[in-house]
Amino acid sequence: MGLSELLLIGVITVGGVFGRLNSRQPSGYTPHRIVGGADIPPGEHVPYQVSLQYRTRGGQMHFCGGSIIADNRILTAAHCCQGLNASRMSVVAGIRGLNEQGSRSQVLSYSIHPKYKELVTSDLAVLSIKPPLKLNNSTITAIEYRSQGKDFVGGGVPVTLTGWGLRLPVPFPFLENVNYPNVLQRMSYHTISNTECRNAGMESVTDTEICARGPFRGACSGDSGGPLVMQSKNGLHQVGIVSYGLVVCGLYISPDVYTRVSTFSSWIGNQMES
Ligand SMILES: *[C@@H]1O[C@H](CO)[C@@H](O)[C@H](O)[C@H]1NC(C)=O
Ligand SMILES: *[C@@H]1O[C@H](CO)[C@@H](O)[C@H](O)[C@H]1NC(C)=O
Ligand SMILES: *[C@@H]1O[C@H](CO)[C@@H](O)[C@H](O)[C@H]1NC(C)=O
Repeated sequence: MGLSELLLIGVITVGGVFGRLNSRQPSGYTPHRIVGGADIPPGEHVPYQVSLQYRTRGGQMHFCGGSIIADNRILTAAHCCQGLNASRMSVVAGIRGLNEQGSRSQVLSYSIHPKYKELVTSDLAVLSIKPPLKLNNSTITAIEYRSQGKDFVGGGVPVTLTGWGLRLPVPFPFLENVNYPNVLQRMSYHTISNTECRNAGMESVTDTEICARGPFRGACSGDSGGPLVMQSKNGLHQVGIVSYGLVVCGLYISPDVYTRVSTFSSWIGNQMES
């Protein structure tokens, strides 16, 4: 795999009014992180968030986000894994800054949803990791992903996204010159209905996806695979996995498209075995 390909693994794929590009093609303009977010304050953690990292000659490189769903399983996007060598992939939990050591586990294998079609549907994967994480309720915990009853999350629901994004200067430099955003970013906005999302230019959105948007904020490259969560009466609940958006992140008119976790909760559950 070429260096520029690798650098682009985490790029949120592109759709809607700017036309569709493959997720691994360079885009003309790539903002550097969650747009419109803020640093997680010192001392605070988002304990279900992990950084997916790829081992290169230049060291470990963050390329996608993911969430802890069991001590030995990570939920992420299919486009964060497809074609990658699992033995070079690891996850780091328990960190706020990418420069922190945290708790690193090797990816043993990944399972991509069999119906995955890039920019169309089922953009999710479950990673099996070793050693299992030590869940301790404060810096490392699992997030609830199972659907609660028949709840299909509609529009207008407050949701929160976290991620490190990947800093991708254009044109692509050598790895040593890449500066990563260090501190985990957090941003809140609202879901919109799928009809609204299609009307806003994301024409191919289906019920297997959920959209969110807010003024001048949004997911961006390197946030892919990361968790969108909502507050439910039983605590935090993961509703989405960052899938794709427009080239220019955080435009008011442009929604972000997420894999709708509730659609896939039984498939995810089946990946927990063994
Ligand atoms: C995957 O990476 C490992 C370790 O770097 C290497 O030994 C192996 O040959 C690679 N496999 C493939 C299919 O590239
Ligand atoms: C939770 O676990 C992590 C990794 O094992 C450790 O660094 C951290 O200090 C633990 N936190 C508490 C409060 O035990
Ligand atoms: C975490 O909290 C839950 C619920 O309060 C408790 O059942 C569990 O034992 C705690 N786990 C650890 C490792 O502290």
